Amino acid sequence: MQSQAVESRSEGALVARVPEVCVVDDDGKLADEVAELFIRSAAGPPESPFRVALSGGSTPRKLYGRLASPKCDKRVKWSRVEFYFGDERCVPPDHVDSNFKVANDTLFRPLGIKATQIFRMECEAGQSDPAEPAAHRYEETIRRQFKVAPPAWPRFDLILLGLGDDGHTASLFPGTSALHEKTRAVVASTSPRGVRHRLTFTAPLINHARCIIFMAAGVDKAQALHAVVEDDTADANRYPGKLIQPIEGRLLWYLDRAAASSLGATTRREMRRT
Ligand code: 6PG
Repeated sequence: MQSQAVESRSEGALVARVPEVCVVDDDGKLADEVAELFIRSAAGPPESPFRVALSGGSTPRKLYGRLASPKCDKRVKWSRVEFYFGDERCVPPDHVDSNFKVANDTLFRPLGIKATQIFRMECEAGQSDPAEPAAHRYEETIRRQFKVAPPAWPRFDLILLGLGDDGHTASLFPGTSALHEKTRAVVASTSPRGVRHRLTFTAPLINHARCIIFMAAGVDKAQALHAVVEDDTADANRYPGKLIQPIEGRLLWYLDRAAASSLGATTRREMRRT
């Protein structure tokens, strides 16, 4: 199992930390569980912002629907939440493949989130010109909002991630140069499937977050999850999800039973079934 070796401040020894894995019956329960965690994480003083980077893909749709539902919508002080995106496809914001569109339709509009609280990756021009200028602009936006200049790293309160069946996360795809970025927070990337041109958070930016939650559902994710979560012999260049190892934050895996079906007994012992 991939244990997260962390430098323990006092002894200097590497202290292995097992991943926190939570398995639930299905994607509806997954949305329920992560919504409750989101609500707990977002609690805080009204004067300080809660900064979250949303995941792309389809898995978070149900989560966004739960957060905007009467069961949850009054349990978060939404006015203190700033919404960012961990990655985006270089398409217009009303395009069916836009990660912004998914969140806008299922979360921002239903909750009446103000435009000033939403930081969209504006990379629709990426299809015609390289997305790099948009990547630099987005990093400037993040650094300006967090008031953090290089070499320091902005620290998100929460980053939501998905995992592709090929082991990619955000838009960090196997075998791409974005995987090796060590100093920039946001870069252009390319996807082998679907919309080719993307923007993505880099692994160092993600790893500085206070809390990172992976959400994965469906048996098609099972092999990649086994490689990323517990196979120490698997290569991060092949399974980029392995790059996600928070420096000081928490890493949580929320999986449905089908996605967790290839995890070994040791990892499963770590699970809290809910
Ligand atoms: C994207 C994503 C990507 C996604 C995974 C899982 O823009 O596609 O951010 O990393 O999270 O591909 O996608 P599903 O949730 O659709 O399975």
